[in-house]
Amino acid sequence: QIPSLQETYKSDFVIGTALNASQIEEKEPNAARLVPQQFGAITPENIMKAEVIHPEWNRYNFDLADKLVAYGQKHHLPINAHTLIWHSQLPPFMRSMKDADSVRKFFTDHITTIASRYDGKVYSWDVVNEALEEDGSLRKSIFLEKLGEDYIIDAFRLAQKAAPNTKLYYNDYNIEQPQKRAGAIALIKKLKAAGVRIDGVGIQGHWRAYNVPLRDIEQSIQEFSALGVEVMFTELDLGVLPNPWDGNSADVNQKAAYNAGMNPYAAGLPDSMQAKLTKGYEDLFRLFVKYSDQISRVTFWGVNDGQSWLNDWPIQGRTNYPLLFDRQFKPKPAFYKVIEVKTKS
Ligand code: G3I
Repeated sequence: QIPSLQETYKSDFVIGTALNASQIEEKEPNAARLVPQQFGAITPENIMKAEVIHPEWNRYNFDLADKLVAYGQKHHLPINAHTLIWHSQLPPFMRSMKDADSVRKFFTDHITTIASRYDGKVYSWDVVNEALEEDGSLRKSIFLEKLGEDYIIDAFRLAQKAAPNTKLYYNDYNIEQPQKRAGAIALIKKLKAAGVRIDGVGIQGHWRAYNVPLRDIEQSIQEFSALGVEVMFTELDLGVLPNPWDGNSADVNQKAAYNAGMNPYAAGLPDSMQAKLTKGYEDLFRLFVKYSDQISRVTFWGVNDGQSWLNDWPIQGRTNYPLLFDRQFKPKPAFYKVIEVKTKS
């Protein structure tokens, strides 16, 4: 029996994972075994997104979300529900909606119906996801365009009313970066000033193994926690593959990988890159332990490498290695290093 991430870190923070339908339905024996053993919380990677749960104007489909709740109850795993308001993965009827009243009606019904149904059944909601641009301004989306800039306040207010027993979070990527972080801080202050409840902020944590922005992350933990909200890392993974834009990179590792093609590790991860992945996770977890009083949860974006979204983004059909368990569900060196960071600290 391998050590358990959740057990090892239980005095520091909860360690969670994202799950998809086949895992919730326990159709994958390896995941079925590993998830309750290793993790202490779960997030639906896709099944609570609007396009899945609210496919048509007057029709919701709660099948998978209800199964998720049952799975969480069975294994005593609290659920961070993801996500109520996001510009992406909207149902087709919403994407082309022109009139503001209809958008308002969708917005109100969607939040109220779903948040109230799962109040007391899920632990928390990512109420609003990815509402900021990289410069910290509000993202141009159908919600901003049709509902105006207070739509985020409205979303939290509706969620608060529908789900009084559920924690309410704002979730985004790159908010450890200075400009976007400033936007997130301004947003949290604005919500608080409006008298609306916001319980926490989720820093997604989709980084590169060889370029983890540790200083920005540390600064973010300090600045967000100073606002009196929970700080979480909600979608952690450390990709190892080059991206199309790495062709211009000054980083020799990125450039070498780029020059080797877009899928350089299809046959396996070389030791040098495996070591970078291990080091990336080591540095990160050392930082998390240092700030364990400020961090409430660290959630990985998937159970194992084979299942990661990073095999298909930004180019489809690649072979990425961003998580702690390999394609055979075997723990990688990075897994043992993460355990060691705690047991030898
Ligand atoms: O389920 C369908 C399947 O029926 C169909 O055959 C197949 C063909 O493409 O698509 C399947 O849906 C895909 C879905 O993942 C489930 O695998 C969608 O195309 C694909 O777009 C979707 O990608 C998800 C993405 O969000 C968009 O919703 C990723 O799995 C998921 O990891 C990713 O998660 C996001 C977070 O929600 C927010 N933060 C960023 C993060 C990464 O992009």
